[in-house]
Order: sequence, then C-alpha cells, then structure tokens
Amino acid sequence: MEHMDIHSWSRPDLIRVRHLELNLDVRFDLRVLEGSATLHVDRFSGSELVLDTRGLQIHSVENAAAFALGAADPILGAPLRVQLLPDASWVRVHYSTSPQASGLQWLDPPQTADRVHPFLYTQSQAIHARSWIPLQDTPAVRVAFEAEIGVPQGLRAVMGAAMSGSHFRMEQPVPSYLIALAAGDLEFRALGPRSGVYAEPALIDAAAYEFADTEAMIGAVEQMYGPYRWGRYDLLVLPPSFPFGGMENPRLTFATPTILAGDRSLVSLVAHELAHSWSGNLVTNATWSDFWLNEGFTVYVERRVLERLYGPARAAMEAVLGRRQLDGEMAGLREQDRILHIDLAGRDPDDGCTLVPYEKGALLLGTIEQAVGRERFDAFLRAYFDHFAFRSITTADFLDYVRRELPNDVPLDEWIFRPGIPEGAAEPHSDAFERVESGWPADTGAWSTHEWLHFLRSQNPPDMARLDREFHFTESGNSEILHQWLWMAVKAGYQPAYPKVGQFLKSVGRRKFLKPIYSELMKTPEGQARARAIYAEARPGYHPIAQATIDGIVG
Ligand code: BES
Ligand code: ZN
Repeated sequence: MEHMDIHSWSRPDLIRVRHLELNLDVRFDLRVLEGSATLHVDRFSGSELVLDTRGLQIHSVENAAAFALGAADPILGAPLRVQLLPDASWVRVHYSTSPQASGLQWLDPPQTADRVHPFLYTQSQAIHARSWIPLQDTPAVRVAFEAEIGVPQGLRAVMGAAMSGSHFRMEQPVPSYLIALAAGDLEFRALGPRSGVYAEPALIDAAAYEFADTEAMIGAVEQMYGPYRWGRYDLLVLPPSFPFGGMENPRLTFATPTILAGDRSLVSLVAHELAHSWSGNLVTNATWSDFWLNEGFTVYVERRVLERLYGPARAAMEAVLGRRQLDGEMAGLREQDRILHIDLAGRDPDDGCTLVPYEKGALLLGTIEQAVGRERFDAFLRAYFDHFAFRSITTADFLDYVRRELPNDVPLDEWIFRPGIPEGAAEPHSDAFERVESGWPADTGAWSTHEWLHFLRSQNPPDMARLDREFHFTESGNSEILHQWLWMAVKAGYQPAYPKVGQFLKSVGRRKFLKPIYSELMKTPEGQARARAIYAEARPGYHPIAQATIDGIVG
C-alpha cells in the first residue's frame, strides 16, 4: 500500500527505512540530544534517501556519497537528502537537536514534583519526531528500533520499548510518531504481572493507587479484541506541563499528573491510551487525514472497557459528556473541520485535533454497532485488528473492509466525508444525568466526578456564589471539576475564584485545560489584561506545543 503523506518529505515508495539504531546522549547542560541515528533501508528505486528533520544540526553522514539539507518549510521542517553508495543498505547520521526542538521539553528542577532533578520528555505525535531524530516521519512507515541512551548520574532514561539499563529495543515495527523517550528521577512500582508505573518518587504512591485497575483493563480489551501484542504495558506520570492528557507510546503510556484525583475517577484516560495498543498502535492511520481511525476507534474501545469494568451507567455518562462536548466544539468549527476525513493541505496536522475525530468517530462506530448488533460488531472489530495488525491504513482501506465484511445501512460516506452528525446516530443516554438535571440537588453524597461535571454544565445561568457556598468548587482537588468551574468563573466574572484561575494556569500545561480558559479571558478588555499578566509568568513553563497554541490566543 503506497500513500502520499503530505506531511512528510520522505519517499518510502523509493527507499524505505525499516530499522533504526539510536545512540544519544541527553545533555541537560546544553538542552540538546547529541549522537547518531543509523538507518537500515530497503531499496526499491534510485539512490536518494529523503529524511524529515526540524531544527537538527547535521554534523556528518557516514557511509553515504553525499548529503544536503534543504530549505526549511514552516510546517514540515527541512528535507535531508542523502545519496546512498551503490548497494549500501545503511547510513549513519551524526547530529544534535536544537534547544527549541518542538518535540522535546526540557524542565528545570523547579518544574518537577521533587524540585531537585531536571526532566526531559519527548512528544512525537503528530510530526515532532523529526525534531529529535532524522527519519521518514510519516505514519505510513514502520520501523523496529534499538537505542542506547546516556543520561547524567542519578537519572533514569525510559523509552516506549523493552528496557534493560541504558539499552532499549522495540522489535515490533512502529510508526515514528510513537517513538518516545523520557529522563528524570524516576521510580518504578509494579501494578500487575505485565504492568507498572514510573513516576517521580513523590508521586509514586498516588500513581500506584490511581492505576490499580490497569491489569484488569488489559484483560478486558483482550477478551473483546484479541491478545495484547506488546509484551508489557507501563505508565509514566509526567510533570504537570505535559501538554496532553495522555500519549499512547507503545509499552509506555505517557500521562499527565492531573488525572491523579485520588479516587480513580479519571482513569478513562488509561482505558483510552491502553485501547490505542489495538486502535492506532497495531492498526495505524496512514496519514493525518485518517486520524479519526486512530482516535474514533479508541474512544469506542475505551467506553467498552469502562462498561466492562465499571458498568453501563459509567460508560453512558462518559458517552453523554463526550456527545455534549462535541456539539459545543462543533458549533465553533468551520464546516470543513466537522468532517471525519479532514483536508489538511497547507495545515499543521495538530490543527485537526478537535473532538470531531474522537467523538464523531466513536459515534459512527456506535451507530454501526446499533445497526448490526453488538455480537456481529465485536466479531468484526476483532477481525479488523487481526487483519490490519502492524499495518498503516487509510480511510479508503477501512471503507473497503467494512463494506466487504460487515455490509450495513449506515450512510458511511455521509458520516466520513460530510460535516456534522447524520440522522440516525446512536444517541447515548444516561439515567443518572437525567436525575442530575431535575432541579437543585438534595443528596449529592454518592455523586461521581461525571455527575458533578454534568451538573455544572447544566447550570444556565449558574448562580456562582450559591454553587461555591454549598459545594466549594473553588477548592476542588479534582482537575476536571476545577477546570470546568474556573472556566465558568471567568465567563461569569466570579471574582472570588480569580486567584485560583491564575494559580491553575501557572501550575498546569495541559492544553485542553489552558485553551478554554485563556480564550474566555480574552473576550473582555479586563480579562485580556489578566490573561497577558498570567501568561507572561506561565509561558516559560509550558511545552512548545502549548506555547504555540496559547500564543495564538493571547498574542
Ligand atoms: N494520541 C492522543 C494525543 C495526541 C493527539 C497527541 C494528537 C498529539 C496529537 C492521545 O491518545 C489522546 O487522545 N489523548 C487525550 C486524552 C484522551 C482520554 C481523550 C488528551 O490528551 O486529551
Ligand atoms: Zn487517543
């Protein structure tokens, strides 16, 4: 299968990298990675190997006739063109990264939980792997890899790979966006026979408590969709500036510490990243326009896991929250961005990361399930993961397969290529939420995080003072509830929560939390002044990806 990926300079149809050896030193003193990448290739035609790079300093290329770095495109970075020697099957690029690399965040000790050691982590999705490794940075190409990583004394490096000391090995071929590295003062705690968690020592107890259900989650997906094919499943809790909730790096999910709620109420994120071990990591979107194949399938599987472990009422609440959020976000999107198979020509693939691929994608699968029945749909999904295992596929590949294997009446073309939600969608429903909606609550003692979120989102207009007096939202220790509340406080001009707004924005870097609050602040002149003051202080602590997003909002 050959597909043009508009977000890569590479030409895997001519020469394709199949194995990578990394040899890197983590230089906290310079904020760079330096060393070499050895690329083993399959040659089909010609002698030019084109690699993606962004901000890399290329020192030399070993075992090559010549090499040249082209002009940098603002979105794609610069192509590195290497002329291979006749019959050569490998080259070695000696390079170092830039301190501003878009895929790396270098943290000073004060930005960590223990405040003693520095921390580094990578975030390669969507097209940031090229800022720390010269490679064919397209999800259509999969590589097996080995790595030798040097870190300063007292620190530990971890990768999404089998680890033994400073050596790492990933035998299953993975797309470049899943290559991941972190280094810091990390402790490990086992959760089950094939699962565990890494975190800074100060957080390890809380993390082990929060993620206690991980092993059961792995078993739940296996029962529905076939074996877990990656050996171990571990989690890494990152410092609070991590710009995402989670990232499904194979064998080692990266997670924000903001899900450590103390009551396991935010573990849908673990179910989600784990589900990617099937949808995304095993069957991978071939281009970023097919991103919904990764995320829509994953949200669907995530909710099935929640249903199995915690019951249908819990899964229904999560689905209704997602459905509502989707409507809210879609209302502000342009028509072309309400399409599952999104046109990203001339755009950064990170722009396509709205709730549309996630929630509209999951809704489509729920609708097919409703049309054919759960039993048939589960059998289909299981066969889909087997059939396309370790391959990268396009939306067209999915359509061919579903039409052949599971003929159904759902208007698939309308769902995938037209904006909005087609008629006949399987609408989620929650009885618990219906009770939440029926007036001022009398007994909230047994309410879950989800009921509180739905309660807050149903207030129109909210009586902020009364809500705070009775339920103390400004003091909430649950990041999702606090975020919802602080956003409402900005919108309503509820001043007692203002100090907390500043504190929150300066202490977390999760983009999903930052974006709505900064956007709301920017709607009034007085809010703009506060946003600028807060951002001036907070910006140096944010990840480059979050900085780019908030720069676009605050200016
Ligand atoms: N793969 C995504 C994160 C991502 C998407 C990173 C696009 C870069 C570009 C991950 O699986 C994800 O979806 N994370 C969500 C949480 C999830 C529970 C919906 C997030 O970070 O908010
Ligand atoms: Zn995801």
